[in-house]
Amino acid sequence: MQAEVLELDAEVLAGHIATITAWLPLASHPRRIVDLAAGTGAGTFALLERFPEAHVTAVDASPGHLQRLRDKACARGVGKHVHTVLADLDNATWPDLGTPDLVWASAAMHHMADPGHALRTVRDLLAPDGLFAVVEVPGLPRFLPGNAPADRPGLETASTP
Ligand SMILES: C[S@@+](CC[C@H](N)C(=O)[O-])C[C@H]1O[C@@H](n2cnc3c(N)ncnc32)[C@H](O)[C@@H]1O
Repeated sequence: MQAEVLELDAEVLAGHIATITAWLPLASHPRRIVDLAAGTGAGTFALLERFPEAHVTAVDASPGHLQRLRDKACARGVGKHVHTVLADLDNATWPDLGTPDLVWASAAMHHMADPGHALRTVRDLLAPDGLFAVVEVPGLPRFLPGNAPADRPGLETASTP
């Protein structure tokens, strides 16, 4: 179920994620990218669109998400640019993720039991001058205009002002 939601999110938020990948303050195109808690690959594929020469290591604790990600990578013809690693990032020791130029964590850090540990681990594995990009949203996105009628069931559940 979460996988389907992630894939819908990826479609709806594709433009937003692409804008962020274009904005990243990088001196040059990264060659080695790690996508933390990659899910079904929204970030992985947005980054590969932006940096087609890169290789992405996609890490997640869900074998099902990673299988979908691999299937999509093959379907898109970028299978050779994607490597998946099944790992629980709450573990004290992470698997070897190389020395990435860019670590990407979208909608990921809030899942970490100890975000401080994740930050320290990323700092230690990043290449010199590497970038850690953390993407989080403060709440569920709304896709209707602010003046849309809140009392129309079925349009969108509006629980925030
Ligand atoms: C909200 S999804 C975000 C997925 C993706 N980054 C995106 O932007 O679409 C969160 C992901 O974190 C993964 N996850 C949660 N806890 C984790 C952990 N301790 N270690 C590794 N992955 C984890 C879940 O399996 C899920 O794929």
